Amino acid sequence: MRLVKFVVIGGAGFIGSHLVNYLIEQNHSVTIVDNLHSGNLSNLNVVKSEIEFFENDIRDLSSLRKILKDSDGIFHEAALTVVQDSYVKEKEYYDVNVTGTDNILKLAKEFGIRVVFASSSSVYGNPKKVPIPEDAERKPLNPYGMTKLEDEYLAEKYAKLGVEAIGLRYFNVYGEGQNEAYAGVITKFLKRIEKQDAPIIYGDGSQTRDFVYVGDVAKANLLAMKSNVKNSFINVGTGVGISIKDLAYMIIDSSGLKMKPIFKKALKGDVKESRADITLSHKLLGWKAKVKLREWLEKR
Ligand SMILES: NC(=O)c1ccc[n+]([C@@H]2O[C@H](COP(=O)([O-])OP(=O)(O)OC[C@H]3O[C@@H](n4cnc5c(N)ncnc54)[C@H](O)[C@@H]3O)[C@@H](O)[C@H]2O)c1
Repeated sequence: MRLVKFVVIGGAGFIGSHLVNYLIEQNHSVTIVDNLHSGNLSNLNVVKSEIEFFENDIRDLSSLRKILKDSDGIFHEAALTVVQDSYVKEKEYYDVNVTGTDNILKLAKEFGIRVVFASSSSVYGNPKKVPIPEDAERKPLNPYGMTKLEDEYLAEKYAKLGVEAIGLRYFNVYGEGQNEAYAGVITKFLKRIEKQDAPIIYGDGSQTRDFVYVGDVAKANLLAMKSNVKNSFINVGTGVGISIKDLAYMIIDSSGLKMKPIFKKALKGDVKESRADITLSHKLLGWKAKVKLREWLEKR
């Protein structure tokens, strides 16, 4: 029998759908809210007979209220997520990512529901040191990162009102099922390689990222929900930094093709170095990423 009723907001998206699949596997009851902006119902094919799905927008408080009221825990994965887009659609990014999160926290307070929400390593901007500990200064470089920081401020505000909300600061998440238009660098490189096109690197490729597998991220979410932690921001990364140039060659090598990446002008608001300090996730959640990028690339 399924006893715990979770709502996954943004559950048709890349990370959200992996989380839904994992929760169902763990025998939980799952309701999903998503407006299908970048998410897709095909991400939920395997579990479609076992879930309840609501096509709703997180900016619509009254419809959310009806869905959330009986839930035992909320996972909030919905957002607009494309850094370069966030410069041109600043207001829309703010509305969805900040007003939407405010609605969710408001209802969490009203019904006394615990929340685990997706924050991001982008709140750190260019860190003074790596690996980045959670108490590092928060100084996002772009409007998207600013919305994620605003979400953390909201979580701090609601914590004072008794809401339990944990913000997981995901680093660069990769894995199966990313929407190409909204995808991260690994999916973009893989899509080009499939067409035998060379990966495109913006900048000199020395910028580093901490790539964490989406299945590991799903597990971190459930551990956070079940933990005794009431309010915290926790890094979700591997602790390993890989340069974009090394990543490009790793993907080229794993494909067996012989080619060189193409270099283009650096993007605005692109972080130079990113690597998680993983001490806190281990201490508070007993979580460590298991999947290694190179092994995943070779197996796929
Ligand atoms: N993918 C990463 O590397 C990464 C890194 C750090 C943080 N994050 C955060 O993780 C979360 C999930 O990201 P993702 O990569 O799965 O992105 P995604 O675009 O695949 O998923 C986001 C989901 O939110 C839904 N959504 C968007 N606007 C909505 C609205 N107004 N109402 C209801 N649903 C809405 C989309 O349809 C989609 O299903 C986001 O909060 C993102 O900021 C992702």
